[in-house]
Amino acid sequence: MRAVDIIMDKRDGKELSPEAIEFLVRAYVAGEIPDYQISAWAMAVFFKGMTAEETASLTGAMLRSGAVMDLSGIEGPFVDKHSTGGVGDKTSLILAPLAAALGIRDPMMSGRALGNTGGTLDKLESIPGYRVNLDTEEFRRILARDGFAMTSQSKDIVPADRLLYALRDVTATVESVPLITASILSKKAAEGADALVFDVKYGSGAFMKKIEDAEALARSLADTGAAMGKKISALLTDMDEPLGNMTGNFLEVEESLDCLEGKGPADLMEVTLELAARMAVLGGRAADAVEGRALCETCLAGGRPRELFLSNVESQGGSAEKLLEMRGKYRSGYSASVKAGSGSFISRIDAGKVGRAGIDLGVGRNRTEDAVSPVAGIEFHRKRGDAVKPGDTVMTVWAAGEGGLAAALPRLRDAVEYSDAPPPPRRLVLKEISACCP
Ligand code: URA
Repeated sequence: MRAVDIIMDKRDGKELSPEAIEFLVRAYVAGEIPDYQISAWAMAVFFKGMTAEETASLTGAMLRSGAVMDLSGIEGPFVDKHSTGGVGDKTSLILAPLAAALGIRDPMMSGRALGNTGGTLDKLESIPGYRVNLDTEEFRRILARDGFAMTSQSKDIVPADRLLYALRDVTATVESVPLITASILSKKAAEGADALVFDVKYGSGAFMKKIEDAEALARSLADTGAAMGKKISALLTDMDEPLGNMTGNFLEVEESLDCLEGKGPADLMEVTLELAARMAVLGGRAADAVEGRALCETCLAGGRPRELFLSNVESQGGSAEKLLEMRGKYRSGYSASVKAGSGSFISRIDAGKVGRAGIDLGVGRNRTEDAVSPVAGIEFHRKRGDAVKPGDTVMTVWAAGEGGLAAALPRLRDAVEYSDAPPPPRRLVLKEISACCP
């Protein structure tokens, strides 16, 4: 086989065979095909797309490029959740212990903040001592004991994605539904879950700005995941405004604890419980989402998920006692507030602008090698629909340094929109797309 023929076939809109796709991925990872040929192929895929069968072949080939987490000997079911990312999205920190309290094991391999999107690993690392670079044995031990473990991906997990993603990033080929599907699903399949719940977000703070694009991705993730033998549920959720009342690494750990103690903000609890309900269904704990949600609400109220969260903090190197002592105090000294402008109600807080300001503050990063701050972030005292008077405090802001604060404040003022009448309520969970293995 020759790479040039495969590129030509895709350029001309033909369907590639599983063998051709396997060859391309294998030879690329082995260094036998140069970046410029894979770039040309990725651009051809960008324009011509892929069938469901091609997407499944690509996902499988990428998965086989590296190691797969061995969960043998640990009792399942194994269910994980993956979010396409957003601003203030801390649901993983609540869902993993909640699922564990239901007897579902969550083998969670997470990512770091990039661009507007926060990262679970950065949030967890804001807890002093917490380690996210578990080796396989530790990961297995903690998963078996606490019911969930949270780690970064080791270098031997899906090396094809590491290479391909870096190339797509600089060749304008990230925004391709089949390439995103294969990238996400190959990594999720490598962690060994039997079932996956996807939170596919749309709106200004999301990777997918338009509902139609998010829906196409959700459908592709569901169909491809099912073709690989996984049970899949994908929820389309709103990311036009920040989720919850806190964004920032330690601030989001604190807000997750609030949720585990029954004091979480309504929007965050709504999205979390809808995702949790699907985890309960896919894990065989509930017959449908309504029953699953009721089960999750009862489970949270019983306090076991909070206990499991704190015991996981200890298992992964942190101190639960210290974490609880730091609540409400672990903040940067560089702080300011954003006051309300004219208008009687807040009609919108633009998540995209808040996410961009988060990079200035030190919550997120532009490049993978940039550092983030544990103590930077934003607390929202008012959100969409709240009545305000000019001068009311809408946000308290903490930055890693003075320069970041000065850069973020005008963006944050600009992110808040006002109206004279209350805005219509937002629908947070738009629809579910599910699929099950043949
Ligand atoms: N996230 C991923 O993991 N891969 C993509 O291709 C896009 C977003």
